[in-house]
Amino acid sequence: MTAVTNTSAFHRLRTNADYQAAYARSVQDPEGFWAAQAEEFTWKKKWDRVLDWNFDAPDVKWFVGGQLNITENCLDRHLAMRGDKTAILWEGNDPNEATQHITYTQLHERVCRYANVLKRNGVKKGDRVCIYMPMIPELAVAVLACARIGAIHSVVFAGFSAQSIADRVQDADAAYVLTSDGMMRGAKKGPVKAIVDEALKSCPGVKKVIVTKRTGDAVAMSDGRDVWLHDELKHVDADCPAEPMDSENVLFILYTSGSTGKPKGVVHTCGGYMVYADYTFRNVFQYEENDVYWCTADVGWVTGHSYIIYGPLLAGATSLMFEGIPTYPDAGRFWQVIDKHKVSIFYTAPTAIRSLMAQGLDFVKPYALSSLKVIGSVGEPINEEAWHWYKEHIGHNRCPIVDTWWQTETGGILISSLAGVTDEKPSYAAWPLPGVQPVLLTPDGKEIAENDVEGLLAIKFPWPSIIRTTYGDHERCRQTYFSSYKGYYFTGDGARRDAEGRYRIIGRVDDVINVSGHRFGTAEIENAINESEWVVESAVVGYPHDIKGQVIYAYVITDKRIDDADKARAEILATVTKVIGPIAKPDKIQFVSGLPKTRSGKIMRRILRKVAENELGSLGDTSTLLDPTVVDEIKAGRV
Ligand code: PRX
Repeated sequence: MTAVTNTSAFHRLRTNADYQAAYARSVQDPEGFWAAQAEEFTWKKKWDRVLDWNFDAPDVKWFVGGQLNITENCLDRHLAMRGDKTAILWEGNDPNEATQHITYTQLHERVCRYANVLKRNGVKKGDRVCIYMPMIPELAVAVLACARIGAIHSVVFAGFSAQSIADRVQDADAAYVLTSDGMMRGAKKGPVKAIVDEALKSCPGVKKVIVTKRTGDAVAMSDGRDVWLHDELKHVDADCPAEPMDSENVLFILYTSGSTGKPKGVVHTCGGYMVYADYTFRNVFQYEENDVYWCTADVGWVTGHSYIIYGPLLAGATSLMFEGIPTYPDAGRFWQVIDKHKVSIFYTAPTAIRSLMAQGLDFVKPYALSSLKVIGSVGEPINEEAWHWYKEHIGHNRCPIVDTWWQTETGGILISSLAGVTDEKPSYAAWPLPGVQPVLLTPDGKEIAENDVEGLLAIKFPWPSIIRTTYGDHERCRQTYFSSYKGYYFTGDGARRDAEGRYRIIGRVDDVINVSGHRFGTAEIENAINESEWVVESAVVGYPHDIKGQVIYAYVITDKRIDDADKARAEILATVTKVIGPIAKPDKIQFVSGLPKTRSGKIMRRILRKVAENELGSLGDTSTLLDPTVVDEIKAGRV
């Protein structure tokens, strides 16, 4: 079955009544509802059943028995109608570098050629391919090239350290790495290939590394293992049929942090992810055919996967991809790019909004921002002050704001208003999207029926892009998401539901810290700190920060007296940078002689959080501590 449709018109919710009707149908008849969305795509074979599921195993399958290739839907399907339309609008780090307008026809060709390079280098369906690249067009091309031939991409954000790459390459048993020589970032260039080389010292299973030239800096090329993309491209043509994929074949792995252990590989599959990324993109942003859409995330995070690459391309949109940073050459860069390319939909993170807000309006005023229609927020709670600033100074009180709540594990947006269609309320993500059935639970797992309450946010029915497993360790997936509350997917977030039923996300209720929209597990950072040879033990907590949302406060026990605390702190920061990356560095480090532990040895993080927040008067009951005197020492030594 091959259907070519004018994809911009279908199943768009244009009024609040449309939303209400779609939501009601999605609950009464989820299978019929999602089948109707899925019908609009090109399937190589139609599904036999829409949904099989249970949340105990867990075992969730959508569009069972169907076959498709997501790139056929992102690219080939658009060629007849939109071949000359810009698919990727690439804006470089340097404002003087030429913008690239890559049309659907050109993107299709580049993806096919890159896919043939992958094949030529031995990559086969089901192989895991690690991608470690800056925000250049080849990053998107590489992602799609993997999907074209059924290889599983595992993108690692190009700010992570060599050790993080090595962990992810080993966990996924990836035999291929796609990278670049270097990267441009603000006023500086940075290494990329050299970091991969360092990582691969401990990854003997890697057979090939394909390197894109970006900076032209000299890099070491390992004979037999490393090849240049531009050389390889000379040997391939542009004909690469899309590999038929079962709906439930793995599309990608993306690593994310949880409260325990090392980051885990969240697995998403082809069919359901495709249908959901497309549906949410169109409806949340109220996308129209001539929009210019810009999501400022990095493709290294899930937001970049779903809402720079897959969602927009499925919809046939023009997706702007930006290589640079918000403050280069100055703090007006975002607004300059919006004016330059007449961006109509802009999607960014609260941390970016707050940091630009702190720079003052002088950086905003020179720009008209008159092309904007919709502005969005993602990644962390947006505080009211930032919401109002965004609304007034960027949206000119004309653009609806969509505050989109979701997670790496959810694959797409679950709770958000639909721009200008359903109402908005500052700091509320607001309404569940069709197909999403959120509940608030009490700590003992009872559903709270009333409104105007707070509780633990869980979802009681599968949506098409729900996490399928954690790579190589299904039990970990079950334990983490499906065992705390039987019969529910547990999000790890706490939320408030207002009197009318809108949701406001309060933040994580587990040991996950969200720094500038980036997720870290306390255990992950503690393990990194503990790699310093003279560190005996550490405990980290998050505490509020005006711009970054949360930052990391570390309490560290050492095996010797620290004479030069600044030097010791610098060493710890260097270790964390080496193990995880600079984004995980604690803001504050306090050296202590002990940690507040219960008699059973559990660290009472509540106390550590209160001290970090400087709420010294309200530490609560400390009588169950093994040694209550450590609390006084910690209070006295607060940094
Ligand atoms: O705590 C929530 C927060 O980010 C977490 C998910 O992080 P990650 O998997 O890295 O995905 C981020 C981008 C989708 C959530 O558990 N979060 C995400 N969006 C929001 C949010 N918190 C409040 N409001 C949001 N809009």
